[in-house]
Amino acid sequence: MNLRLTVNGRGYTLDLDPRESLLDVLRERLHLTGTKKGCDQGACGACTVHIDGRRVLSCLTLAARCEGKQVTTIEGVSADAELHPLQRAMIEHDGLQCGYCTPGQIMSGIAGPACDEITRLVKQLAGEPSHEEATAEYRLRPRVHPRTEARVQPKRN
Ligand code: FES
Repeated sequence: MNLRLTVNGRGYTLDLDPRESLLDVLRERLHLTGTKKGCDQGACGACTVHIDGRRVLSCLTLAARCEGKQVTTIEGVSADAELHPLQRAMIEHDGLQCGYCTPGQIMSGIAGPACDEITRLVKQLAGEPSHEEATAEYRLRPRVHPRTEARVQPKRN
């Protein structure tokens, strides 16, 4: 069967066996090998990807069911060559262990309702201010640039 897939924002037209899993299509046909095959039966999570922003186990998902949906793999989570904060945190805090299932852990971590909270915690761990801290800091800042402020100050004699 002919299938049109969108993966990481790029369209692909493929001639597939309707029984092929999304995992096998990603790895063997599209050569997106960041998605790992662990148990191949839905138990380990190494194959986690996003479909329309929701995490799924690609080993249990038929590729044929993904037509018209947005599939995102670990290769598609970084923007403008910048790692996702969770990817950076994994590296900075040595969270990889052997690394085989790390893409699945990251894909699982950045999807779903806990995503914003995880991103906030990762930024805090990385030393970046939380939204509340940044907002408070902004409120305390002078309203004009220091040089501008110096120019408008009356000259002292
Ligand atoms: S490969 Fe283990 S859950 Fe898919």
